[in-house]
Amino acid sequence: MMRVPFVAGNWKMNTTVTEAEELVYDMLDRLDRVEGVEKVLCPPFVALVSINMMLRGSSIKLGAQNMHFETLGAYTGEISPLMLGELCEFVILGHSERRWYFGETDEMINKKVKVALSHGLKPIFCVGERLEENEAGKTREVIDRQVMAALDDVSPTHDLVIAYEPVWAIGTGRAASGEQAAVTIKFIRSILAKLWNRDIAQDLRILYGGSVTSNNIAEFISQPEIDGALVGGASLKAEDFLGIVTQTAEIKYPHLPSPFKGEE
Ligand code: PGA
Repeated sequence: MMRVPFVAGNWKMNTTVTEAEELVYDMLDRLDRVEGVEKVLCPPFVALVSINMMLRGSSIKLGAQNMHFETLGAYTGEISPLMLGELCEFVILGHSERRWYFGETDEMINKKVKVALSHGLKPIFCVGERLEENEAGKTREVIDRQVMAALDDVSPTHDLVIAYEPVWAIGTGRAASGEQAAVTIKFIRSILAKLWNRDIAQDLRILYGGSVTSNNIAEFISQPEIDGALVGGASLKAEDFLGIVTQTAEIKYPHLPSPFKGEE
């Protein structure tokens, strides 16, 4: 099974609803026309309703940035999988900013992954080591723990995308090298092969994230192990995000004359 390249923009806590709509408006037509890449926008919760409407009929999909693991009830301020299910296809889970700023544990992430899948939401599940863990040679140990914990008691599924995001590379302008990222992504596949099976380990998309821009995307995408990117800062600039998606199509499908539908 060929892994369809995947690029998601995580807008984090940026854009008012008006700004979010303007950003989508700026990219919509051009992004829609890029074929062969799954394109996902993850705006803040408050913009999901209007952006869901803007994206209808297009090839661009919608994702949320987080979700609670309960489906409803007295959890003031939280957003549930039932609410997201009407609006989104994807949900980012286990992002390092959730882990480190909001105290999300592996156990909570495991609950979220299970409940998302049981409500038809596809997790974009993030893993990654911190700088001190990287420097202490503990990258594999950390990633292994994060993957095994989040997928504990989860049946093999194709409805999962994994993002390898070294914490030291997020928002720092200090991206990993393509080669470094590919080695860790290959390691993640080996964990999936052991936990589930070899076929699913080969089928699942695994992305790189951390200071990806239109200037360095080629380095990642040209690695066969890397199926796409989870993009933060650069996804807030229409031209940058379009550049990332377009180059992804060009590099993954070198035989196609143009990533734009109907153009030579
Ligand atoms: P960044 O963020 O591209 O701004 O480094 C990536 C992410 O946090 O997903």
